Amino acid sequence: MFGRDRLPGPKGYPIVGVLPLLRADTLGFLKRTVEAYGDLVPLSILMHTAYLLNDPAHVEHVMQRNYRNYRKTPMLEKLRPILGDGLFMSEGELWTRQRNLIQPSFHKERIDSLAGRMVAVINEHLKLWQRRAAAGQAFNLSDDTSFLTLEIALQTFFGTTLGHDGAAFADAMKVVHDISAKRIWNLTSITEWLPTRENRAFKQAVALLHAVVGRIITERRQSKSTHNDLLAILMDARDAETNEAMNDKQLRDEVMTLMLAGHDTTATMMAWALLILSQHADHVSRLRQESDALIANRLPGAADLKGLPFTKRAIQEIARLRPSFWWFARVAIDDDVIGGQPIKAGTTVFISQYLVQNSPKLWDEPEKFDPDRFSPERIAQRSQFAYFPFGAGPRVCIGSNFALMEMQFSIAMMFSMFDIEIVSDLTPSFGNLITLRPVDDIWAKLRIRKSRIAGENGLGAQ
Ligand code: HEM
Repeated sequence: MFGRDRLPGPKGYPIVGVLPLLRADTLGFLKRTVEAYGDLVPLSILMHTAYLLNDPAHVEHVMQRNYRNYRKTPMLEKLRPILGDGLFMSEGELWTRQRNLIQPSFHKERIDSLAGRMVAVINEHLKLWQRRAAAGQAFNLSDDTSFLTLEIALQTFFGTTLGHDGAAFADAMKVVHDISAKRIWNLTSITEWLPTRENRAFKQAVALLHAVVGRIITERRQSKSTHNDLLAILMDARDAETNEAMNDKQLRDEVMTLMLAGHDTTATMMAWALLILSQHADHVSRLRQESDALIANRLPGAADLKGLPFTKRAIQEIARLRPSFWWFARVAIDDDVIGGQPIKAGTTVFISQYLVQNSPKLWDEPEKFDPDRFSPERIAQRSQFAYFPFGAGPRVCIGSNFALMEMQFSIAMMFSMFDIEIVSDLTPSFGNLITLRPVDDIWAKLRIRKSRIAGENGLGAQ
């Protein structure tokens, strides 16, 4: 196959190529690369040529049209000790079987049935916010959304709060995430077996997570009561052909996967949502028009979500500006051609949601926060593959409806009751992690809204 003559791309170093640049500042390097070289750029890594793809047509090709020709990158093997053979890691027949088995648990009616519990957790959390407002106390926004989303996951997945284990569980999730982010660019796994403090911390954190999830599954198997949570739904799931349920190991891998794929992503996006919205009073008043009309004096339910369309658009726009899951890599199984460029079997392609969704070629004033980009008319005007915060094609995020519902309830309830003032830097930079977490802490203060204090709308059902 003959394609274009050598496409221009960044030089990098002898042998290792651009690997040190990717490792040092993944987002900064990829951003500079598309700015300098365009939407299809060769990247030399360890004497191989990978490609950075930044055009919606490329995204559609890899994720949807020719998805069978692309498997996940071996870089993800670093996550295998944590996620095992769960949905995120599996390929081929195992993935197809598990996806078919689990997908029904995430159907809209199933997710809607978790709404009551989700809202109860948010409401409980907002009582803490009321106490903070009364005390004029500043708090760390990222820690707060991390705590809230973990509590929601624990309650809706397992119907438990874990009590004292909750904090240790949260710490372990953070350790695992942060160390994995560093490991992803390691050339070999040898250093990960050395008895360093970091490696020990990683091992301990994984063991703790597995032990807690394992214990919950065992207790559930022994329980005689009926439960309405995600674990019950997963345990009831049966293979359409064999009628078999999942064994304990597969169940644990799937639960770990749902926890890890779903927690930091949602927490990070919610923190960005609070930060960005609190700087846009005009949009917050539009958001409040709907929430004041609908949920001022009672707790919302799943049926109320369609009455909060602007809140949803604001969240969709946050997912465009700050996609917490912001890049991924795939490897071609057979020879292929993308955008006229031959792609040999074994070639890695990189795609970044952040870069495509913030491309000035695809979006007017991409850095501007404009929820109306998600009006039906404007959505119809652009390629579906210009926006894919939850991925695309058959491997699209299984938890997107869960995450969107969680954010819609949380944001509506939070802004309905509180004014949020950011008291630290308003433009924190991004950390070099798997999720697009702000590198600096964001501190905020709360005030109960005047209309609420004056009793116009009451303080909502408590
Ligand atoms: C704002 C929150 C979230 C974002 C931005 C997000 C993003 C993504 C993306 C981009 C993928 C595709 C990865 C790829 O193709 O390589 C994905 C897959 C996945 N997500 Fe999410 N996710 C979020 C929340 C959740 C939640 C709440 C859950 C679980 C309850 C979840 C579970 C999963 C699973 C299991 C997969 C693998 C699916 C498969 O390969 O079949 N995610 N997510």
